[in-house]
Amino acid sequence: MKVFIFDLDGVIVDTAKYHYLAWKNLATELGFDFTEEQNELLKGVSRVRSLEILLDIGNVELSENKKQELLAVKNTEYLEYVNKMTSDEILPGILELIDFLEEQKISFSLGSASKNAPLILKKVGLFDKFSAIVDGNDVSKAKPDPEVFNIAAKKLNAKPENCIVIEDALAGVQAANIAGMTSVGIGDKKILSEADFILANTGELTIQFVKNLIV
Ligand code: BG6
Ligand code: MG
Repeated sequence: MKVFIFDLDGVIVDTAKYHYLAWKNLATELGFDFTEEQNELLKGVSRVRSLEILLDIGNVELSENKKQELLAVKNTEYLEYVNKMTSDEILPGILELIDFLEEQKISFSLGSASKNAPLILKKVGLFDKFSAIVDGNDVSKAKPDPEVFNIAAKKLNAKPENCIVIEDALAGVQAANIAGMTSVGIGDKKILSEADFILANTGELTIQFVKNLIV
């Protein structure tokens, strides 16, 4: 029996744009520019690691205390966007897919790097749908380490070869591959070339596509 593990940011909801806005404002305050292209490097990556990458881009060195302060500033701004979210922000095809999985009695878990995942799922009304939620609060190692997906598989009582991971970040695709799971990448073919399957967007996660995966 197959099970599904969903990444959150960029798969269920497009929160990447909010992460970007908050990081960009921080970069501006620190005196350097931060482009959307550079933001790709932060996708799937933990909050702490994201700040390190951002500071590398800006060539800025800060004390541990200052870094902690900036992490809090970034998250406060990010949460301002998150708190305005509604179910309208669920990406195309996701609700249909969740309905189909429920109908077929196929279990599914969240496997996200975000510590804000429970709040976001509640905001868009999906929190109660998942058999398990594994997020940034449950892991000690960030993607591409497979820890988050291994914990999710355990919670779903599934062997890795029966897990299908839906991911928009290269780090997440790599984590799924290392775990021995099937990886479905959502986004740019060039960035996600390591995925077992690549779809341009969640709208292509059709029931037919999913049926072919689970046979
Ligand atoms: C991932 C995002 O899902 O979560 C990253 O792709 C983000 O961009 C990470 O940095 C951590 O999120 P949060 O909500 O804990 O800051
Ligand atoms: Mg993601």
